[in-house]
Amino acid sequence: MVLVLFGLGAFIALQMALTSSARGFCDKALATDMRDIPNHYAAPGVFFVAVRPVPTTAKPEGAENLTDGEKAEQVLGFVGLEYQSDKSSKAAEVRRLVVGAKHRRHGVASRLMLEVIKHGETIRGLQTIKLGVSQYQPAARKLYEKLGWERDGQSEAWYGIINVYIARYSRPVKSKSKK
Ligand SMILES: CC(C)(COP(=O)(O)OP(=O)(O)OC[C@H]1O[C@@H](n2cnc3c(N)ncnc32)[C@H](O)[C@@H]1OP(=O)(O)O)[C@@H](O)C(=O)NCCC(=O)NCCS
Repeated sequence: MVLVLFGLGAFIALQMALTSSARGFCDKALATDMRDIPNHYAAPGVFFVAVRPVPTTAKPEGAENLTDGEKAEQVLGFVGLEYQSDKSSKAAEVRRLVVGAKHRRHGVASRLMLEVIKHGETIRGLQTIKLGVSQYQPAARKLYEKLGWERDGQSEAWYGIINVYIARYSRPVKSKSKK
């Protein structure tokens, strides 16, 4: 009985720690780059949002306020390419790739990543695009490996009491040097 109670307590404590760490991660995102997307991902960086028209039977909240010329759209997912051009960096970083749970496994992330790579090829002097993915994101790892990203290192970070291992991936950019 004591063992069962101990196990249950440990499980609940772990769940609470994971939830609190995830919340901390989201809070940090909302307080940093996601707080001012146009500025943080300004050209030559970019932030892509995948949308689709909303079926007339399922208009989202607020859609009734749209004028005749406007069409309601639903966000499927998004991704940013962060590029610190002021540091004359030769690398950019993919960040915040997310596809809504209901829209997964339909190629949305693959298309977003394709657009990011195409955009990267237009940035003058850009040689590498990098990204990091934790052990808690196995779907993303499969995605990147399927798309041909190569693993080139690992780093660690602490979110609350959770130690996160971040696998680093990169790919070279075939620059078309326009921007
Ligand atoms: C990872 C994520 C972006 C994938 O989005 P998605 O639109 O479902 O991805 P795609 O449909 O383009 O998937 C392409 C391929 O990736 C792999 N893949 C994607 N999700 C997978 C899953 N849950 N399990 C196994 N493989 C998966 C598959 O090989 C898939 O090809 P297939 O569907 O033909 O088998 C999405 O699951 C997500 O938003 N996860 C939470 C946020 C996150 O982890 N972001 C990554 C930050 S680094």
